[in-house]
Amino acid sequence: MRTYLVTGGAGFIGSNYIHYMFKKYGDSIRIINVDKLTYAGNLENLRDVENLPNYSFVRADICDSEAIVNIFEENDIDRVVHFAAESHVDRSIKDPGVFVRTNVLGTLTMLNAARNAWELPDGTYPEDKKFLHVSTDEVYGSLSNPEDYFYETTPYDPHSPYSASKASSDFMVKAFMDTYHFPANITNCSNNYGPYQFPEKLIPLMINNALHGKALPVYGDGKNIRDWLYVEDHCKGIDMVQEKGRLFETYNIGGHNERENIQIVKTIIAQLREALSDEDPRKAAVSEDLIKYVEDRKGHDRRYAIAPDKIKAEIGWYPETCFEEGIKKTIRWYFDHEEWMAHVTSGDYQKYYEDMYANRG
Ligand code: NAD
Ligand code: TYD
Repeated sequence: MRTYLVTGGAGFIGSNYIHYMFKKYGDSIRIINVDKLTYAGNLENLRDVENLPNYSFVRADICDSEAIVNIFEENDIDRVVHFAAESHVDRSIKDPGVFVRTNVLGTLTMLNAARNAWELPDGTYPEDKKFLHVSTDEVYGSLSNPEDYFYETTPYDPHSPYSASKASSDFMVKAFMDTYHFPANITNCSNNYGPYQFPEKLIPLMINNALHGKALPVYGDGKNIRDWLYVEDHCKGIDMVQEKGRLFETYNIGGHNERENIQIVKTIIAQLREALSDEDPRKAAVSEDLIKYVEDRKGHDRRYAIAPDKIKAEIGWYPETCFEEGIKKTIRWYFDHEEWMAHVTSGDYQKYYEDMYANRG
């Protein structure tokens, strides 16, 4: 039985990945989820797997080298899938320090622990040991020419403290591969959306605000472009890279689905209106009148767009869920999980929202 160590599995993509893997491999794999449970980590995301005999949870900080080394000593880990990170650009602008700590130093702790556990005396590694570092397209910076795309060969040009910390962590993984022949891959994915996403990010924030009749804060002119991918397609890509990809390679993951932010917001409004029954009191408030253009994000990248040619050609990955279907599924999920949303937006969230949006004008 292959054992996976998943970091950050209580967050948005990590929890979707754990669900995806159990659905695909059932009891032929074992997953250990290590997560610090920051504001973004939520064990409610894993309710339906928490009692599985082949799942276990360890609450630990990835910067805590002793805790991480213990996990490797107590378990024969075959695969590491490393999601744990601080992931929100706006928070990184307010407080870059924790991004460097978790994203850079935490990644180094994971790499050191895996290398120490796996490296053989002659400097080689057993064949089935692999580390996958989950990264972002934001490391490539912002595209200005509409014909351009991010390829694996595009030079890194990060602008936000978040993307700079992810770029640093990618370079550390690359350094381990080059220096120690450490068996790893890096994936750089575009913006994800889907179930269990914390409502600080564009799509769940807009769904939640619209359902509460609250203003929909669009930064700047609303014309910044992101390339959206349904989270399950990202999870499929990660698994395929570990199973079929060439070691030491980077793969970009994205589904050619570029949209301006304002288009996303208008689509959400239209889809919510379609999904809400005429009797639902929330329906009257859901309209484009809620859109409010607010002060732009500092250093706001204009356009991201992934060229997924390599992962398609080498591995045969392709996205299965188009945006129209994905956004419907996502809205349906948030409708069916009102309690989840109520829990994650109680307490600290209100303060966060106030701090982040009160002075935006
Ligand atoms: P998230 O913020 O929803 O989840 C992050 C998880 O990591 C949380 O469960 C949190 O508790 C945990 N964590 C944070 N600091 C930790 C620490 N010091 N020790 C242990 N656990 C810690 O993030 P996400 O959106 O699921 O992103 C997961 C990964 O995917 C990140 O590495 C991110 O950079 C990358 N990524 C995200 C997107 C996206 O659109 N969300 C796109 C491409 C790549
Ligand atoms: P976000 O979901 O934070 O992802 P990222 O910054 O990592 O791409 O933001 C997506 C886009 O939406 C980005 O261009 C910023 C914009 N945005 C808003 O216009 N309003 C908001 O309230 C948020 C959270 C984001």
